[in-house]
Amino acid sequence: MATTQHSIEELRNFFEEKIKLTEFKNQPVQLYEPIQYIMELGGKRVRPVCTLAAAELFGADTEIAINQAIAVEVFHNFTLVHDDIMDEAPLRRGHATVHKKWDENTGILSGDAMMILAYQYLSKNTDSKFHSLFSNFNKTAIEVCEGQQLDMDFEIKPTVSLDDYLGMIELKTAVLLGESLRIGAIMAGASENDANLMYDFGKNFGIAFQLQDDILDLFGDPEKFGKQVGGDVLACKKTYLFAKAYSISNETQRQELVDLYNSTSIDGSKKIEQVKTVFNALDIRNRAKADMNTFYVNAGIALNSISADDSRKKILKDFAESLMVREL
Ligand code: IPE
Ligand code: IPE
Ligand code: MG
Ligand code: MG
Ligand code: MG
Repeated sequence: MATTQHSIEELRNFFEEKIKLTEFKNQPVQLYEPIQYIMELGGKRVRPVCTLAAAELFGADTEIAINQAIAVEVFHNFTLVHDDIMDEAPLRRGHATVHKKWDENTGILSGDAMMILAYQYLSKNTDSKFHSLFSNFNKTAIEVCEGQQLDMDFEIKPTVSLDDYLGMIELKTAVLLGESLRIGAIMAGASENDANLMYDFGKNFGIAFQLQDDILDLFGDPEKFGKQVGGDVLACKKTYLFAKAYSISNETQRQELVDLYNSTSIDGSKKIEQVKTVFNALDIRNRAKADMNTFYVNAGIALNSISADDSRKKILKDFAESLMVREL
């Protein structure tokens, strides 16, 4: 008989309890302290909660996928530590980033160690499931690197099309959300088809998730967001907002947008204000929201196709919906 499902809040609490009991501290301190620091900074815990919720959707107990939930969160935090070095970001979850609190070398090596720890957790208590978990996860992990490189390449490209942008975020962000869900499904013994549908759900929801991240990066409330607002504009990151604005602009507007957006000589806060003004004139925030919704709807279609009782899918559907309107 299928187990009762827990709410997202319960799953998050369950995960927090487990992570508290997980000792990331060891010797040498300089290697492990940053790991403990970033893992304890919190965050929304979206990926491990997805893993646990996916396992429950297929009737399994959360305990079955707890090590894999830890794995995806440690892996995610590893990517954040390195991402913050690459993006020269000062703030993460309202606190100093690892490379600011320590230094870049520390961030690099602690990040490396976290990736290895993630693989250790991924492989725990997997028995015959190990092979499919491992090959899927490897594919996803290398795709995240590919996406990150494209993200960096786009900083120095004057402009980026919507298609290229979407391809990039599918890699840097969406596939890991898809994988977090697929892992939960595999651990619960779901069919390959259902596990892949879970992945498709997560991939579409992950694209929507990154669009909201781009929106918040410019329009978020600095008190709530926990990261430096305007950081993408300062780094000339080609975000969805930029790609959308470019795609609907006329020739004159395009040139102005490209010149302004790629400028590194103009004062930072002035640049942020001017970019905002251009985006507002083109109603970019609402347009991005509308496009985000399309991916959310596509996510729902994949979820609906899974062969499980519709009532068991509601928790994940509501969770995805709640993340579309998040403020952090
Ligand atoms: C941040 O991920 C990186 C992106 C893929 C946008 P989250 O928004 O899930 O960050 P935390 O873990 O909640 O801090
Ligand atoms: C994050 O993209 C993607 C990965 C960490 C792999 P961002 O650079 O947009 O994430 P934030 O905004 O710093 O969290
Ligand atoms: Mg970043
Ligand atoms: Mg980045
Ligand atoms: Mg971002």
